[in-house]
Amino acid sequence: MVYFPILIYNINNAKLIIIFYLSPFTLHPLTNHMLSEKIILATWKMQLSISESINLAKKIKEKLKNHKLEEIDVALCPDFLAIPAVSEIIQNTNIDLGSQNVFWETKGAYTGEISIKNLKHFGVKFVIIGHSERRQNLLESDRMINQKIKTVINEGLIPVLCVGENLEQKNNNQKDIVIMKQVRSALTDIDINNISELIIAYEPIWSISTTKIKQEIETSEIEYTNQLIKQIVMDTLSPQKNISSSEFKNKIKLIFGGSVNSSNIVNLMRQNHVQGVLVGGASLDAEEFTNLINNTL
Ligand code: PGA
Repeated sequence: MVYFPILIYNINNAKLIIIFYLSPFTLHPLTNHMLSEKIILATWKMQLSISESINLAKKIKEKLKNHKLEEIDVALCPDFLAIPAVSEIIQNTNIDLGSQNVFWETKGAYTGEISIKNLKHFGVKFVIIGHSERRQNLLESDRMINQKIKTVINEGLIPVLCVGENLEQKNNNQKDIVIMKQVRSALTDIDINNISELIIAYEPIWSISTTKIKQEIETSEIEYTNQLIKQIVMDTLSPQKNISSSEFKNKIKLIFGGSVNSSNIVNLMRQNHVQGVLVGGASLDAEEFTNLINNTL
């Protein structure tokens, strides 16, 4: 929908007519977030009770109270029911809030789903989309993921798209093709001009700490894959417009997730194409998580 509000002034009997053109994008003004150079997102998955979430948020807040966190964005992604309490605890701090999922429609008869409007009410800034645990356990499809990304972008929040291959795909040398398919379909029909900021997390399923057959990943493999993701994003979005390197850098951040801890973060953050991390297990302990942040600075 496009609106044309008209103002008519009478100046010395001459009429001055001013017409405002509001593009569809102005109807959903994008907040200018301006992400920092480094991003650390903690996802608590479904690991904690409400009181454990409250305690952990309080401890992290306390340990970070003397940090300005100027060059780093830190966000906590509790489960939905803990969001209101955690939101209150981190109010007036430099710690941000994220959610682990969202529904693609903003309102309606969608039993059991959570709307982005209600997430915004509690100050959620980041929304994780397409985590492998949801793709596997809830059969979340590429199409659903694409719809969710569009909604999050339209509502001015920052999507955190997760992509990654499973062990079988890795062993069959299908990693690149799997990543290409996931990234391309997630970004289908998305206009680069409408993207304020987007985070893409490479998360090979076989490197996630809770995976039964967990394996170590080489840092060079992460760097290679994030470069590949960058190329796929450029190719997917560029038919609309040539994306310069600086526009890419400003709008799209590439991060990594999979058994990140306070030790391996140091080497990870030295990579050119790793601007941050999505942390599961290591974010459940305030000491370990804040050490991880300290080792990133
Ligand atoms: P992990 O989880 O840090 O426990 O491996 C990461 C994730 O699943 O995003």
